[in-house]
Amino acid sequence: MVIGLLMITAIPVVTGTAQAVSAQKNRDQQQKDERRMKKFHIDIRCTGDSKQAKELDGKRVVLKADRLWLGPAAVVQKGDYGYVAESFYIEYPDTERAPAPMGLVSQVWDDPPLLNWIYVDKNTMEVKYGNKSASITHNIGPWDWSEDEVQIVFDDMDVAFINAFYAVERLPGKWQLFFDMKGDQLAGYLPTKMTKIQVELHRNLIVAAGEAETA
Ligand SMILES: *[C@@H]1O[C@H](CO)[C@@H](O)[C@H](O)[C@H]1NC(C)=O
Repeated sequence: MVIGLLMITAIPVVTGTAQAVSAQKNRDQQQKDERRMKKFHIDIRCTGDSKQAKELDGKRVVLKADRLWLGPAAVVQKGDYGYVAESFYIEYPDTERAPAPMGLVSQVWDDPPLLNWIYVDKNTMEVKYGNKSASITHNIGPWDWSEDEVQIVFDDMDVAFINAFYAVERLPGKWQLFFDMKGDQLAGYLPTKMTKIQVELHRNLIVAAGEAETA
């Protein structure tokens, strides 16, 4: 009889604990997601003393004609150069890919606000943006950040960690973003004469006007 009572009363306690743990997990997950979903501009970091490195360092990633380009430094408004990328991380919803890889999105249009996925074209190694049907057969992630959360990394499953973003000068002064997935410095994809400079992509958090006061 005593044992029976204990068992009965024990059950809700255990369930309660499990619920508390699961609620804590959800809160942790939520906080993690909120951090991942903080919007940022993508700024180019290019160290080195060459004239080109100095020219590229600090440029901001812009979106135009389905592709990512290096726009002017510190721009916040769209212009002839394209739409200024405002990115964040969110899981890419694809039932064929389990677990769901972390995707990278950007707003690509103001009115109505439209988000697209940022991905690496499997045929050309260009970094591009597009909706789900445009991106799903390409390399859509996993995208990640470096340990200090500053650098954006494209983390292919076959390669532990690679930073192989390249700025490629398609026309004089017009730099397009590529990702070298094959480790051949894009030799198989672009003319060898074309200038290719390795760059890093850095997160530059966008502080909303309301947030600035409380931060
Ligand atoms: C997705 O993008 C493609 C072009 O890349 C377009 O043709 C198609 O209409 C878009 N689909 C949706 C649902 O917006």
